[in-house]
Amino acid sequence: TVALNNAAKAAGKLYFGTATDNPELTDTAYVAILNNTNMFGQLTPGNSMKWDAIEPEQNVFDFTGGDQIADLAEATGKIIRGHNLVWYSQLPTWVSSGTWTTETLTAVIQNHVTTEVSHYAGKMYAWDVINEPFNDDGTFRTDVFYNTLGSDYISIALTAARAADPNAKLYINDYNLEYSGAKIDAMVQLVTDLKAADVPIDGIGFESHFILGEVDASSLQTNMESLTALGVEVAITELDDRIELPATDADLEQQKADYESVVGVCMAVSGCVGVTIWDYTDKYSWIPSTFSGYGEACPWDENLVPKPAYDGIVLGF
Ligand code: XIL
Repeated sequence: TVALNNAAKAAGKLYFGTATDNPELTDTAYVAILNNTNMFGQLTPGNSMKWDAIEPEQNVFDFTGGDQIADLAEATGKIIRGHNLVWYSQLPTWVSSGTWTTETLTAVIQNHVTTEVSHYAGKMYAWDVINEPFNDDGTFRTDVFYNTLGSDYISIALTAARAADPNAKLYINDYNLEYSGAKIDAMVQLVTDLKAADVPIDGIGFESHFILGEVDASSLQTNMESLTALGVEVAITELDDRIELPATDADLEQQKADYESVVGVCMAVSGCVGVTIWDYTDKYSWIPSTFSGYGEACPWDENLVPKPAYDGIVLGF
């Protein structure tokens, strides 16, 4: 059968990729599939490039975990999406509970972004510079960054990232951009405003954590096209499709259709550069621990055997 990165490239896309995480890299059967570059041409570190891992104490940087993923990508000929630089979650408490002024928090963001992006400069296809800035109602999430700096924290981080690695594509990444409504409208407005202000922005990531049967291909395509019309690229960055357990055979067929449909939208949008799944196997999916009663969201099962969803991806390309 066709390998997924090969299928993506044959269809004119840049990559098909997967998230992975450092603890999984001791699983030799898992790594054997992960390392097949015909299957995956791109990696995203699931956790080890986040702020709490990289700068656990102020100005104390630890690149051990991130380097392990970056080195693996380099050794196996894969591109990397750096994930992520500024996010409300998985923040060390020295940031989230610090006492900040506009000046001190600006310097903290600049130092974090500059140091991390410089460390990986030349190795990254893209960075999720800003992760999940919006609430579902389209208002800005009131985290420490917004509460201190307003939406200026976004341009502060993007500008620092561009200076540290001019060749990396700079992304804003969020979930629930896949549907019509206030959240996608807010993202379109944000990109419009950033472009008007000459702030560097190259791409928007659609996380795409779907619930079985809830893919709305038409909205997804419209939303991607609204953004590419503004001069940015788009990508599916964290695709999975969770099933309320126990999963039936019919559910797995619906899941195949869901994956096919999402990949098909990326195919239909020329500015959609690639698709990343949020780990390839149910064995290491984040879903069961986060969404109680749900699971089996990935294209490979817990025994590393491809599910019908795998064929759906091939059909989508
Ligand atoms: C998840 C990881 O997969 C988990 O291991 C971790 O415990 C929590 O974060 N949106 C994102 C990702 O942008 O960083 C999240 O990753 C999933 C949701």
